[in-house]
Amino acid sequence: MCGIIGYVGRDLCIPKIISGLEALEYRGYDSAGIAYVENKKIKIIKEKGKIANLKKLLDFNANTNLGIAHTRWATHGAASKTNAHPHSVNSFTIVHNGIIENYSELKESLIKKGYIFKSETDTEVACAVIADLYKEKKDILLSLNAATKVFRGSYALGIICADDKNTLYAMRNTSPLIVATSPSGNFIASDVPAILKYTNKYILLDDLEIAKITADNITIYNKDLNIVKKEIKTFEGTFEAAAKNGYEHFMLKEINEQDKVFSDTVNYYFDGSIASLKKNFAFLDKFSKIDIVACGSAYHTGLVGKCLIEKYASIPVNVEVASEYRYKKCFYDNDTLVILVSQSGETADTLAALRKAKSDGITTMAIVNVVGSSIAREADHVIYIKAGCEIAVATTKAYLAQLAIFSLLSIYLGYKNKGIKKSELEKIFTDLKKLPKLIKNTINYSELYFDIADKIYKNKQIFFIGRGIDYALSMEGSLKLKEISYINSVAYQAGELKHGTISLIEKNTPVIALATDTELIEKTISNIKEVKARGAYVIYVSNEEPREKFYDELILLPCIHPILESILTIIPLQLLAYKVAKNNKCDIDQPRNLAKSVTVE
Ligand code: F6R
Repeated sequence: MCGIIGYVGRDLCIPKIISGLEALEYRGYDSAGIAYVENKKIKIIKEKGKIANLKKLLDFNANTNLGIAHTRWATHGAASKTNAHPHSVNSFTIVHNGIIENYSELKESLIKKGYIFKSETDTEVACAVIADLYKEKKDILLSLNAATKVFRGSYALGIICADDKNTLYAMRNTSPLIVATSPSGNFIASDVPAILKYTNKYILLDDLEIAKITADNITIYNKDLNIVKKEIKTFEGTFEAAAKNGYEHFMLKEINEQDKVFSDTVNYYFDGSIASLKKNFAFLDKFSKIDIVACGSAYHTGLVGKCLIEKYASIPVNVEVASEYRYKKCFYDNDTLVILVSQSGETADTLAALRKAKSDGITTMAIVNVVGSSIAREADHVIYIKAGCEIAVATTKAYLAQLAIFSLLSIYLGYKNKGIKKSELEKIFTDLKKLPKLIKNTINYSELYFDIADKIYKNKQIFFIGRGIDYALSMEGSLKLKEISYINSVAYQAGELKHGTISLIEKNTPVIALATDTELIEKTISNIKEVKARGAYVIYVSNEEPREKFYDELILLPCIHPILESILTIIPLQLLAYKVAKNNKCDIDQPRNLAKSVTVE
């Protein structure tokens, strides 16, 4: 949700800033811009569309060692050149990720003072607030600090001031921001992949802190403007991990990494013994009610988690979308645990839900991918998935790793609560060991899924149906398909279709029917026959060889313990969505209107 980067150092800044910005393009890609200091003047260049459009306007040899840049996901005002960042008022030029919620009242009072605004953005207002404070305070740090008391909302800001052209300033509240240090100079960025080509050493800026950065120095101030000493962290991943490595798309690369991601995640918490699960998850013992809160695909893993935890551990689980949860009345008990699921660890609504639960005195646990992200830092307990950098906007490997964590939690709680017997536990452990290979095999059947995609990609709508856990997985299959292929797709509980939606089924309407829960397969087959009788083109996904032919296409999965099966079921759905989108010539890694890290409400 908007990416920002800045550099000050001894090297030419445009090549560094643009390569970093490209690594942030997953955060937004409807316009981009850069501001840099050349011959003691601040130059601003921006353009509508992707960074590639901006690049055409730049002189990469320009003699400049300090700059800031931005890739935008529009919130206030259309995606246009005028609304693109950086924005400039008087001596200040800024780039911004986040939303200044009180911008319209601030704008009104600034207009009364004579300020004229060129764009519709909250960012230009933020810049004017800083410029206006500077008139009175005549000191950059004092003005930035005073601005934190005026702004309401979220912001990560990169700032240049014409009165101090050798220094980069940065500040944040809620939106993510790192400061990184390299032998040739220093950076600010929204996320680590932006700086990995040059350094893996970075500092996490905390809320309301301000960074003052020159080529040789980084000074961080807290909200009282005292200098704070910050830990310099080392990022474990490599730049190569954030590159495509020969794959046509990041999404395909990330799907293909899933066997390793699964092993890395599971092996981090499980050494083959129940004792290892107890060691890592014993803190869960005291909870007898769980709320799982998340957005999008992470919410969908929560739905799978609910099926597993309720079935095996007999603990009631309520799953909610974070944007609803944060504003609703919650009925907590003393023994309620709130689980937040987030790949990025920065999703604004999920973070707000976490803060709400904490302020009500409820214990929180986060399942997160990005180490040191806001949700990871603020939750009482963190379980990291080991998915590595996920670049494609549509999540795949992080989703699968979240499923793996819910399986592990269910195994632990199920065994503890006597929903899983010792003999069954042994079977689960055997299947756990087999899974990386089965994941790889399932991915290797991609030709089958691609053939099916070739037959259905021209359809205007595609349905998914399933019962129980298969419905939860259908939701994710349907989201994957629609977000990257722009084909309308809805997931339905298989038994619910006939209560209205079946009227949409016509001759050849694709219906992807999931049936992996042995207890419900027969019921689902009856529902499949209902749509088949109305002409649907049925793609049947199951782990049990069907005895009769009620389908047009069959995807047969390996049969493993049901507590783990979802990890395989999702794979053909990811690859099907991928190929449908590819056939439709869609921008797979950066679907229209989307961004990966949703740091606004
Ligand atoms: C869909 C997708 C989104 C995210 C959602 C939450 O493919 O990636 O639905 O799952 O925006 O993001 P995180 O997990 O970062 O909180």
